[in-house]
Amino acid sequence: MATASAPGKVYLFGEHAVVYGEPAIPCAIDLRATVRAQTRDDGRVRVNAEDLTFDGVTVEYAGTGESRPDIDVPDTLIDAAFGYVETAIESARTLAGDAASGIDLTIDSEIPLGAGLGSSAAVTVATIDAVSRALGTEPDRTTIAQQAYHTERTVQDGRASRADTFCSTMGGAVRVEGDDCNRIDTPRLSFGIGYDGGSGDTAALVDAVRTRRDQYQVAASTVAAIGELVRRGESALITDDRATLGELMDMNHGLLSALGVSSRTLDDMVWAAREAGAPGAKLTGAGGGGCMVALEATDEVMTALRHAPSCEQSFATTLTTTGLRREAE
Ligand code: MEV
Repeated sequence: MATASAPGKVYLFGEHAVVYGEPAIPCAIDLRATVRAQTRDDGRVRVNAEDLTFDGVTVEYAGTGESRPDIDVPDTLIDAAFGYVETAIESARTLAGDAASGIDLTIDSEIPLGAGLGSSAAVTVATIDAVSRALGTEPDRTTIAQQAYHTERTVQDGRASRADTFCSTMGGAVRVEGDDCNRIDTPRLSFGIGYDGGSGDTAALVDAVRTRRDQYQVAASTVAAIGELVRRGESALITDDRATLGELMDMNHGLLSALGVSSRTLDDMVWAAREAGAPGAKLTGAGGGGCMVALEATDEVMTALRHAPSCEQSFATTLTTTGLRREAE
C-alpha cells in the first residue's frame, strides 16, 4: 500500500489568462486530497472515492465505463473526476513500466469538486505518486508535476496550463508562465473562502473565454491586462504589501467578470467579503460558480461570508508550503 496527499489551491491572480501564456500565481492551501493505492492480482482497477464532495458521498466505480457512480452531482463532473483518475493511473503505470497490475485506489478529499480549489489537480498528483509507488517506482516531484500536467491536458482536451498541477505538487505560492514554473517566497497568508455549492465546467469556461477573446479585441486586451496585473501582484506579494495585493485581486475579479466567467453568487460573496474589510476578494479558478477567495480570514470576513445569501459553505484556510506528501501507511 502507498499513500500520498496533495493540496488544493486558490489563485491569487491570473487564472484563464495563464492559458494564453500570461503569468499566474496560484497558492496551495491546507485542504488536501489523500490517495491510497494497492495492487491487486486480477488486473482490474477499482476506485473508491469517498467525500469527493462535501456531501460525504461514497462512490464505487469499477474500471472504464462499467458502472456509473450514483451521486448527486452533474454527470460531466463525474466523468471529469474519473477521467482524471483513470488517466493518472495510466500515467503511473507507464512510469512504472507495468501496464498489467490491477489497482485498488481510495480517495479521500477535503476539496469540493469542480469548485475552483484545484480538486482535480490534487487528486491527479496524489494518484500518480501513490500508484507509481504501489507499482514499485518513486518518481521525483518534477516528473510527477510533468505527468500530472499531461493528465490534465489530456482530460481537458489540450486546454490546461501547468499552474494547478505544479502548485499542488510543489506547494506554496508559485509563478507559472507558459512552461516556466517557479516557487515564490511569500509571507504567511490566510484566506476566507466562500463556496456557493455549485461548480463550473473548466473546459467549457476555457472555451467560452477563447471565443470571446477571438471575437473582441477588448477581450484579448483584458487577457493581456490580467498578465500586467499579475506582474504587479508578484512584487506586492514579495514585499508583503497587502493593500496593493488586495486592490489587484479586486481588479483581477473585475477583469474576469469582463471575460464572462463570474456569476451572481460569486459576485455576491466577493462583495460581502469586501464590505467586511477584506483588502481584496475575487473568484478563484475557472469560475461560473464554485468558490471565491478573500485575502485575510478575519472574524469579520468569515462572519460576512457565513451570512451571505449565496454562500453555502465558508472556510478559513492558510497558504501551505507542503505540496505532494508521502504519507505513512
Ligand atoms: C482552472 O483552475 C484554471 C484555468 O486557468 C485553466 C488552467 O489554467 O488550466 C481556468
